[in-house]
Amino acid sequence: MNSLTLIQPDDWHVHVRTGAVLNTVIAHTARQFARAIIMPNLKPPVTTVAMALDYREEILQALPKGSDFQPLMTLYLTNQTTVEEVKKAAESEHVYAFKLYPAGATTNSDAGVSDLTALYSVLEAMQKYDLPLLIHGEVTDANCDIFDRERVFIERTLTAIVKQFPDLRIVLEHVTTEEAVQFVESASNKIAATITPQHLLYNRNAILAGGIRPHYYCLPILKREKHRLALVKAATSGNPKFFLGTDSAPHLTHTKENACGCAGCYSAYAAIELYAQAFEQANALEHLEGFASFYGADFYKLPRNTKTIILEKRDWTVPASYDEITPLKANEILNWKIKQ
Ligand code: NCD
Ligand code: ZN
Repeated sequence: MNSLTLIQPDDWHVHVRTGAVLNTVIAHTARQFARAIIMPNLKPPVTTVAMALDYREEILQALPKGSDFQPLMTLYLTNQTTVEEVKKAAESEHVYAFKLYPAGATTNSDAGVSDLTALYSVLEAMQKYDLPLLIHGEVTDANCDIFDRERVFIERTLTAIVKQFPDLRIVLEHVTTEEAVQFVESASNKIAATITPQHLLYNRNAILAGGIRPHYYCLPILKREKHRLALVKAATSGNPKFFLGTDSAPHLTHTKENACGCAGCYSAYAAIELYAQAFEQANALEHLEGFASFYGADFYKLPRNTKTIILEKRDWTVPASYDEITPLKANEILNWKIKQ
């Protein structure tokens, strides 16, 4: 296959930051995606509808001229989130979900939730207003091995939430394990998951074998090969519970090439091309469109896009950096390219 026409995809999980970084990365996202779920983990986090509307304006201002890209805003759940704010979010035409970060789980999550049971009235309200809850599914328990944190979160926390709120729509974000895939597959149709390109393309050897490679370090951390294979199988199965969410998370190169490097892979510059590579390796390009362009929109109860994009089979070399951000696969060859 030398060319592939797809309904325009959406990114159901992306970090675009603010200021100068936003200006660089938003053009990359808008070049391929019609819409994206914008993560709220800024400093300070986006916790109210008013803050989300301001952030949305900043994103719209940063877009290339003539772009019709739509940022879909989310609110950051904290110990202080109120039922009234949930109602306001449900009434806003620009807020699409709440994001749960267990406190300390990842980049800018200090303000995250420390005791979820104290927030049950807020989850109850999300269920009532049918506002999805997006979850970073990892325990933060220092005694829990970093490679087990997703599995243990499912056992200790997620199972209880799903039982308590059977009608709450939940996206388990950036799943990385066989156990997460099994959990989502066997749950009701209210439960879905996003999968990133790095978790489809790499296992944990990419970070650690033959030297420490910080540009493969993201959270949840890359796992063993058997988990990667389970993710590839889920993404390419045509099961609508699994859809595209890049978790593209730009950090300046010096903050990753550091004695205490930041977590996050930058993939937005070529996200759909990276997914095409992963699907082609699995001989499953025919399932790319459902995963990238249909199932997420269906889950969020939004119309599917109508424009198309064309991917061409063409080798190109990824630059070493984009304005001080080192991309995933820097200096390597990608085999697919969007036709502009
Ligand atoms: C994300 C970031 O940098 O904001 N980092 C990451 O490793 N994925 C935060 C997140 O989604 O966990
Ligand atoms: Zn993320």
